[in-house]
Amino acid sequence: MARNLLGIRHLTQDDIQELLSLSADFKLRILEKREVPNMSDQVVGMLFFENSTRTRVSFEQAAHYLKMKSANFSSGGSSMAKGETFSDTITTLRYERLNGLVIRHRASGSAALAARYFGGPVLNAGDGQHEHPTQALGDALTIIERKGELKGLQVSIVGDVEHSRVARSNAWLLSKMGAEVRFVGPRTLMPAHMQMLPGEVHYDLRSGIDGADVIICLRLQKERMADGMLSSITEYASMYQVNRESLRWANRDCIVMHPGPINRGVEVDDVAADGERSVINSQIENGIFVRMASLYWVFTSKAKSPDSPPPKLRVAKTVPAQPKTVARTAAKAKKAVAGSKKK
Ligand code: MLT
Repeated sequence: MARNLLGIRHLTQDDIQELLSLSADFKLRILEKREVPNMSDQVVGMLFFENSTRTRVSFEQAAHYLKMKSANFSSGGSSMAKGETFSDTITTLRYERLNGLVIRHRASGSAALAARYFGGPVLNAGDGQHEHPTQALGDALTIIERKGELKGLQVSIVGDVEHSRVARSNAWLLSKMGAEVRFVGPRTLMPAHMQMLPGEVHYDLRSGIDGADVIICLRLQKERMADGMLSSITEYASMYQVNRESLRWANRDCIVMHPGPINRGVEVDDVAADGERSVINSQIENGIFVRMASLYWVFTSKAKSPDSPPPKLRVAKTVPAQPKTVARTAAKAKKAVAGSKKK
């Protein structure tokens, strides 16, 4: 079976450690202009069904550093706009002989579904409100660079927890690695089953960031919000904004993080976003190295078998070729082309 990176929740401490060590190693190699693995025989599909700047570009950069080829795909320019189903699209990409997929989609669980249909390695670049594993890895690398380790740190995740896959992946990763997690925000933006997530809940910003070593600010995800979740953005900002004043409640050397995109003046002010405590730009840059590590980790896994049988699909009967047949057909075609050239 192919190795996937679908979320943090099911990773072991050792997996996380391995991914972070690989990321740090790739970072050093790139900064020192040393060699990195050459994966030029691999083609990865970049499937972004939802908007993205940071995640998309950093996956492309990561693939570029590893010399992988990437095939870009967005639903608007594809057959999905003509009504093709998700599973048929993913199956098509499998038989286009892509070696792996990076997928972002607004539906929670879509990456796992893609992994079922694709059969090769799949990396989740954000699925609905579920997980965003590479964001959490990049955040962890950034924290370790500033704080030395994750264990024992007090990390407050502030804002729209309900709609945030970043909050979930970070909470899983940080708690698995020994940090203490607090979720901070209004009741209406907390998931209904908070007891399923690893962390303490605070509805009050002051108690939520009191003594924090790290504050991870979350974007208000207005596109996912039903009416009535917030009485007003101004009121939200007055109660939950991480800013010059509220930062006094955190530790003096507390760092401020944000996965972006930022709603400036809502969840953070300029001091929090751009001040000396902000590590937001490092998060962006580290995103490249953790994505290199993630691509390498799934593509080179021993668990991966290139001959794994296709899953049971509706279209299975119409799937033409097993590798040998493809090779024979290709050989015939080559002969035919050579013959026609002679004439
Ligand atoms: C995400 O894709 O989840 C982003 O990185 C965070 C956000 O959109 O607020």
